[in-house]
Amino acid sequence: MQLINALDRQRSVYLQGASGTLQKLPFDFEDLEKRAQQQMHPKAWAYVAGGAGQEDTMQANRTEFARWRIVPRMLRDVESRTLGTQLFGLELPVPFFLAPIGVLEMVHPEADRAVAQAAGAMGIPYLFSNQASVPMEICAAAMGNSPRFFQLYWSKSDELVVSFLQRAKAAGCSGIVVTLDTTMLGWRPRDLDLASLPFLSGMGIAQYTSDPVFRQIMEEPDPGTGAPTTISWESIRTLIGATRRFPGSFWKNLRSNAGINAVRTFIRIYSRPNITWKDLHFLRQHTDLPIILKGILHPDDARKALDYGVDGIYISNHGGRQVDGAISALEALPGIVEVVRNKVPVLIDSGFRGGADAFKALALGATAVGIGRPYCYALALNGAAGVAELLNNWMADLELTMGLAGCKSVDEIKTATLINTY
Ligand SMILES: Cc1cc2nc3c(=O)[nH]c(=O)nc-3n(C[C@H](O)[C@H](O)[C@H](O)COP(=O)(O)O)c2cc1C
Repeated sequence: MQLINALDRQRSVYLQGASGTLQKLPFDFEDLEKRAQQQMHPKAWAYVAGGAGQEDTMQANRTEFARWRIVPRMLRDVESRTLGTQLFGLELPVPFFLAPIGVLEMVHPEADRAVAQAAGAMGIPYLFSNQASVPMEICAAAMGNSPRFFQLYWSKSDELVVSFLQRAKAAGCSGIVVTLDTTMLGWRPRDLDLASLPFLSGMGIAQYTSDPVFRQIMEEPDPGTGAPTTISWESIRTLIGATRRFPGSFWKNLRSNAGINAVRTFIRIYSRPNITWKDLHFLRQHTDLPIILKGILHPDDARKALDYGVDGIYISNHGGRQVDGAISALEALPGIVEVVRNKVPVLIDSGFRGGADAFKALALGATAVGIGRPYCYALALNGAAGVAELLNNWMADLELTMGLAGCKSVDEIKTATLINTY
């Protein structure tokens, strides 16, 4: 895979500018965010940009980066640089991956497929969301041999979990990322203000509606919620949306009520808040793929994960969308790295907004860094090309930060000096 190197990328931006062409995406994250907001529906914006409670953890995800400072070293011959690294036996061009993000159809009509296309062309791993808008098989087909993983939300139906695991393996996934921090949806004021939950309109449930086991569960009698149903323009719109998104003929689905039935079934079984450590044995029995736990923030949980034989730890607070007041991911990193002691890879996301952030996490011992909201905004602004442009910018930014700090490789970043100014 031939990737553009940082100096070429930088030169091409300036040269194109000299002949009057500016890049499609702003380079500054806040500008990117503002431009994306103008492009997105208010409900999509609330869903993507919002966090839990007062969004204190979302803010902490950023402020923690400012506390750590890089101490650049000089005269170290950094002419030849590489960002190449290894993850679960895969050779990666850069220590980045695209975090799982659900309901991308709210952001762009090509949704997950566009992201898969951009990530696949660059050999950067894409973690397919359990709440994707496009089935994993279609995204996998857009990626060739490029690495991908499947992110699992543990459903109430063990049969459905097994079916997802089998499909992930067949779709060429290199691992199963089990998200542990969303056994229930966090309290999210921006969505609550708009009374907006995209799943109710059949958005973000494509992994389910494309699944044979889920389709069987849909046939079972629904115990019902007892909630009163009021007929209104909004409820009709919801019905039409859910019906249109269900695979197959609209009229046939309308007659059989398949769309609404799928939504009801999803709501009934999507999460299992009573899972415990022991349940990990079940996963191990049903997949030989590496198992990575997403949402780990406490060193004792990391220790326990190792005891249970997991293959990777993924530090994340879900971008501040779950527990408001939770520690930032970067704050959790050093303690977890100390426990893990290189036994398994340590992935991290939540609050990363550019190359210097990634450098700091790598220097503190992370193996790879997850990009989240920034790629959603790039997708909103320019589809697959937007995501590719963003990834090129992040690679160039990290490569230059690395070289200017006196490091030539990811291994050297791990020995870089950071000071905590707190
Ligand atoms: C709109 C949105 C949807 C998300 N959907 C999922 C998901 O389906 N599964 C999951 O494990 N994490 C999900 N996440 C969390 C991300 O994987 C990641 O942890 C988070 O975006 C990192 O924070 P950041 O975007 O602020 O950097 C979602 C995040 C956002 C913003």
